[in-house]
Amino acid sequence: ATQFGKVCEILDRYDRDPAKLIPILQAVQEEYRYLPEEILTLVATSLNLPPAKVYGVATFYSHFTLTPKGKHIIRLCDGTACHVKGSTALLDAIRKRLGLTGKQQSTPDLLFTVETVSCLGACGLAPAVVIDDKVHGQVTPEKAVALVEELIN
Ligand code: FES
Repeated sequence: ATQFGKVCEILDRYDRDPAKLIPILQAVQEEYRYLPEEILTLVATSLNLPPAKVYGVATFYSHFTLTPKGKHIIRLCDGTACHVKGSTALLDAIRKRLGLTGKQQSTPDLLFTVETVSCLGACGLAPAVVIDDKVHGQVTPEKAVALVEELIN
């Protein structure tokens, strides 16, 4: 239970006000990097809301995630401009370096999560990759692997 001790603090910060469900979920996600199921239930109970309502909000906004994400988030653009400039090779190189297979998006140690997005708004820099909110442009597979390795060491 102590694992979720922070939740009470967050709920208090927002006066346990059901109208503040979204900021509460945002704060929870900031703390845990995702929305654990147990916490959603706890939030629903504390706010006197039906759990289905809380789940509905948590799954509606793409900003929220119900599965744990890695410490480092790699967002690889696979929009048209980046695709043409070889984003697939980048994705393959990064996933291979991290040992990700199949539908796996995060490394088992939760150090990395790799996601694809449809445009980062940096098409002039194609192919573009965002690592922990920093945009990298004209990334080659070698450069991508080097950037990832910097974070491992
Ligand atoms: Fe990649 Fe726009 S298509 S940044």
